[in-house]
Amino acid sequence: MSVSFHGFRGEAPLHPWLHPSAPSGPAPWCVGLLPPGLRTLPTGVTLPTTILHNSDWLTAASTLGPRSIDLLYADPPFNTGQVQCDRAGSYDDAWPTTRDYIGWLREGLTATLPALKPTACVLLHIDFRVCHHARLLLDELLGEDRFVNHLIWHYGLGGSSPRRFARKHDDILFYCVDPERYYFKAPMVPATSNRMRGQMKKSTDVLRVPPATQDELLEVANINNMAVERVGYPTQKPLALLELLIGACCPPGGTVLDPCCGSGTTLVAAAGLGRNAVGFDKSPQAVEVARARLAQVDAARARQAASIPAAE
Ligand SMILES: C[S@@+](CC[C@H](N)C(=O)[O-])C[C@H]1O[C@@H](n2cnc3c(N)ncnc32)[C@H](O)[C@@H]1O
Repeated sequence: MSVSFHGFRGEAPLHPWLHPSAPSGPAPWCVGLLPPGLRTLPTGVTLPTTILHNSDWLTAASTLGPRSIDLLYADPPFNTGQVQCDRAGSYDDAWPTTRDYIGWLREGLTATLPALKPTACVLLHIDFRVCHHARLLLDELLGEDRFVNHLIWHYGLGGSSPRRFARKHDDILFYCVDPERYYFKAPMVPATSNRMRGQMKKSTDVLRVPPATQDELLEVANINNMAVERVGYPTQKPLALLELLIGACCPPGGTVLDPCCGSGTTLVAAAGLGRNAVGFDKSPQAVEVARARLAQVDAARARQAASIPAAE
């Protein structure tokens, strides 16, 4: 069964995050997921929609409908000064200066902010090279009082040197659009005290997967070389990390935007959690890898839909 879905623009009510003036056309401009008939399971459950644009962030941002996005998660290049390369693709990660890099980030973020709902969260995933500049940029674009957390994703692999302490973390800057209204649902963990035995509680310890808690240090193992989820795209992030972030910062049924989606980790995690997702990437290789991962999600859903008897 073919599960790719194109030409979604005729269905505006299903895709409120698309601007009415968005250019129309078939893939590779966009690749969708399940065709409309399969989007509602026989049980009546409506499945989330995922849209993938093979496009530059800045160009694609203008296609987003105003106030349509619940969570902006961006994992852009980190300005390492290198070409990032692995067996399934590569991308350029060099700007002449940090100022040029921050200028690029500023353009992309500025073009995207009008698409955020007042309840939206912003997660910018970067590392030590530009984190301090990016924090000032977000202070400027959103306001200092919109800062929520400076998350540390501690991953344990690599980063060692005899000349300094090991570099084993990335930084995820968490901001909101409106401090009074932004969505946040703390991850719950099994309680350990006798008094709460058998219950779930919000924890204040280090954030580990599993189990998850709610502190600024996210301990999620990076993808090892033998991991089944590894697709060979450079700097691929672990699904568990994205599941944790999306579960906490995007409401069920809401929409996540990843403007530099690479191998599609954010889109796959969102689909699994019942969130809609929109992904952009300017690399055709990235889009092909992401499309293949999403097709697997589609195939699993189609099997699921076929195996559930229709409701009377
Ligand atoms: C750090 S990787 C994203 C990895 C992704 N989170 C994953 O799990 O696979 C950054 C991505 O940004 C893309 N990129 C770079 N410049 C871009 C631009 N101007 N617009 C859209 N995507 C861009 C690259 O092609 C690359 O795939």
